[in-house]
Amino acid sequence: MECDLFEEILDLKKEMDAVVLAHNYQVGEVHRVADFVGDSLGLALKSRSVDAEYVVFAGVDFMAETAAVLNPDKKVLLPSKEASCPMAGMLSRESLCKAKEKHPDAEVVMYVNTSAEVRAESDVTCTSSNAVEVIDNLDCEEVIFGPDRNLGWYVEKETDKDVFVVPDDGHCYVHNVFQPQDVDEVRDRFSDAVVLVHPESKPVVQEKADYLCSTGQMIDFVGSSKKDKFVIGTEVGLVERLRFLFPDKTFIPLSDKAVCREMKKNSLKKILWSLENRGFLVEVSDVVADKVRVSTERMFELTG
Ligand code: 13P
Ligand code: SF4
Repeated sequence: MECDLFEEILDLKKEMDAVVLAHNYQVGEVHRVADFVGDSLGLALKSRSVDAEYVVFAGVDFMAETAAVLNPDKKVLLPSKEASCPMAGMLSRESLCKAKEKHPDAEVVMYVNTSAEVRAESDVTCTSSNAVEVIDNLDCEEVIFGPDRNLGWYVEKETDKDVFVVPDDGHCYVHNVFQPQDVDEVRDRFSDAVVLVHPESKPVVQEKADYLCSTGQMIDFVGSSKKDKFVIGTEVGLVERLRFLFPDKTFIPLSDKAVCREMKKNSLKKILWSLENRGFLVEVSDVVADKVRVSTERMFELTG
């Protein structure tokens, strides 16, 4: 059955001139039909360089919106309408506008995990892999950053600029699962393991990590490390991905409760449905898309 689905998807991709881009958190069978697997930044960059009429995005809504905005000539499809990142809805346009009034000299740097409407009100977007670099390269003293208070804490610590984080309580429920005692426990059990933690985790957990990395940076780190045991403090899908990429190394999830339900709405069945029905077409109004394109391209310019 799974084998039939796999073949059908590959045939349809060819017939329709479609590619599948998948986030690192997707399950292995989705990665097997994907043309490219990566983190938010890698997927945004890849969406610009692939030559295809259709891009099926096995990720969540804000990522598919980015691909749609950067590629007005391609049709971007999201296999599940429910694949919507809760954090991306935590900052409203109104709240951001109020923060801008309060800090008129600040540049607005928005984490890409944000609705397109809010990113349209921002000067530049960033991902977890380049947030500090983007902020450091801005010619300003003050920055408004949102919506993740944990990533905001991390960038505030790393940069010399003043960072105002909005809203007060923006967070990812998946990474908020991690507790400092989880790190203590794995260190007791696996004293020789390197602890990698995503900066969407709480500050008290970040402080106990060996390295803070985006999902793509975790893969690169493991690939270039001589060590062979790693604790992975991010969504459990990345553990599956790492085990596939590095079968001779050992990966321990910081918590097996770190599951992103929204990312997991994608499946082979839904990808097949998406191709067959050309759905769900990701649409961003021209006014919003034009502004988001500017703030996204500025991220690329600032990070080379
Ligand atoms: P990455 O850019 O590190 O893949 O993060 C995306 C995300 O949604 C993390 O929860
Ligand atoms: Fe959103 Fe968190 Fe899921 Fe990433 S892991 S898509 S931030 S809910």
